[in-house]
Amino acid sequence: MSNPFSPAQLWSLADQFGTPLWVYDAATIRQRIAQVSNFETIRFAQKACSNIHILKLMREQGVKVDAVSRGEILRALAAGYVAGGEPSEIVFTADLFDAATLDCVVEHGVPVNAGSIDMLHQLGARSPGHAVWLRINPGFGHGHSNKTNTGGEHSKHGIWHTDLGAALAAIAQHGLKLVGLHMHIGSGVDYSHLQEVCGAMVNLVRTAHAAGHDLHAISAGGGLSIPYRSGDPVVDTQHYHGLWDAARQQAEAIVGHKLGLEIEPGRYLVAESGVLLGQVRASKNAGNNHFVLVDTGFNELMRPSMYGSYHAMSVLRRDGSTAAAQPTVVAGPLCESGDVFTQGDGGVVLPRDLPAAQVGDLLVIHDTGAYGASMSSNYNTRPLIAEVLVDGGQARLIRRRQTVDELLALELGL
Ligand code: LLP
Repeated sequence: MSNPFSPAQLWSLADQFGTPLWVYDAATIRQRIAQVSNFETIRFAQKACSNIHILKLMREQGVKVDAVSRGEILRALAAGYVAGGEPSEIVFTADLFDAATLDCVVEHGVPVNAGSIDMLHQLGARSPGHAVWLRINPGFGHGHSNKTNTGGEHSKHGIWHTDLGAALAAIAQHGLKLVGLHMHIGSGVDYSHLQEVCGAMVNLVRTAHAAGHDLHAISAGGGLSIPYRSGDPVVDTQHYHGLWDAARQQAEAIVGHKLGLEIEPGRYLVAESGVLLGQVRASKNAGNNHFVLVDTGFNELMRPSMYGSYHAMSVLRRDGSTAAAQPTVVAGPLCESGDVFTQGDGGVVLPRDLPAAQVGDLLVIHDTGAYGASMSSNYNTRPLIAEVLVDGGQARLIRRRQTVDELLALELGL
């Protein structure tokens, strides 16, 4: 529901940088970081928004970072993060290594949060003594969509909980150094079974301790949701921390010493800081549906097409007037029927009451700071769009617009 910017500010950014445009508000990000600062380590899941300048902002606030690819490790390094140390500023989380990424974690000494036992063997053979976390699938999970539920037997993520013993044996075999246990059961979690998640973590710590393995930290993973619609629950971060802190204390009683407690949010830290600015370029009626067509599509914001996700929207007219609302289907420029921002799960178009929009008006799509720019593609040969960070009233271009020539250059002159 959030839009940190005034209409005048958005018009001036659209005039200065053009549309479509990603805009982020630094103050909102700092405020969300403060909300979870009772966790001693906040590790930003950069897949949510991996712009180097956003990562620099995170680092300035003392936030550490998670990387899920070689590219994300190189982004973290470019933002000034350094791997190693306790806790390491960078951790690599994955379920497999490709050859180049294995080289990269070994070269830079990046601790690995392993989601498969094969990763432990491959890392151990190359880099005995390397620091590892174990990402465990506790056998259940939850998410805002089936596609974002990462626990349970349908999920490819993590080491199945009953295989913890085998994973620990692989660690011992290669002399790897166990840092901690990690669980991320999904994105957009419902908090009703958080107790169960925390309980599962305590049991895992007990199993590791009984098998003679010491550890230094536990990680609650990410998954904190944000209110995309009015009426959606707002996370009580004190309560959330309290439950995990209690689990940490139980785990400390088992291992007999202090344990670090990490949280790994993506969406929570950045989603509400960002908007996607588009411009209305056409409108038409099809039977009973009124379509407003904008210059941004699912190649920029994929969430509605991929999950049927809801994003609040506003229409801004240059003269500041607001027209009466009418049921509107908002769609993009792509050659795909699914290129619709107002849709439900399964692709059904859902007209939404919006002020009648005219060609030239701005369309503001809210809460797009997470999984917006980072999930964009070049579909229909559309260059990646620019990103702007607003901080203390100053707007700064943090990614310039890609050009079609840059795209063509990948294929020409080979
Ligand atoms: N940690 C791990 C290991 C993860 O896989 C993820 C998200 C996170 C942390 C951060 O989750 P968050 O706090 O942002 O919920 N593209 C989807 C979300 C998929 C997230 C995948 N992993 C979306 O647009 O909702």
